[in-house]
Amino acid sequence: MNRSILPLLALVLLCFGCGSGTPESAGSTDAPATTAGLTEEQLEHGIGPIEAFDPGPLDDALADKGLEVFNLKCSACHKMEGRYVGPEMGTIANERSPAYIMNMVLNPAEMIEKHPEAKKKFAEFMTPMPNQNISEDEARAILEYFRREAASR
Ligand code: HEC
Repeated sequence: MNRSILPLLALVLLCFGCGSGTPESAGSTDAPATTAGLTEEQLEHGIGPIEAFDPGPLDDALADKGLEVFNLKCSACHKMEGRYVGPEMGTIANERSPAYIMNMVLNPAEMIEKHPEAKKKFAEFMTPMPNQNISEDEARAILEYFRREAASR
């Protein structure tokens, strides 16, 4: 009797482990789950390796570097003005938090699968944003480029 319940119990415990995001996700683990099982932190800042942070004053040289990476790895799908394969990026830095933008770039598959905002965009654009295998430093540079663009509008 007891023995037949054990595998079930193990399954239930496993599911607890996978339900509320991975330990390295943004947000403290004891924060209460909200929409779609995500924490407030994850809802605002996305799911991935980057936690909420203050990007500080604009760094022009970093933004230039970001522009280069963007042209290489993002411009096939995104434009600063107008929708393309993916959404417009010109004002994204005014609409999403710095960590959200970086997590979307570094961890798009999980974002599309679990985050309500990314799901919405996917439903609208019908193409999954691919993982471009860019480093955190490159993602940070792209964010700076987006911030400069958004500030100029
Ligand atoms: C193959 C096309 C494609 C490429 C390449 C691509 N994206 Fe995307 N991106 C999309 C699509 C489509 C979406 C909308 C969500 C979805 O459908 O997955 C998106 C969503 C985003 C979002 C979230 C927008 C929002 O409103 O929340 C950001 C930020 C973003 N992309 C940045 C980038 C950056 C930076 C790069 C380059 C490193 C990049 N993307 C490369 C197609 C692409």
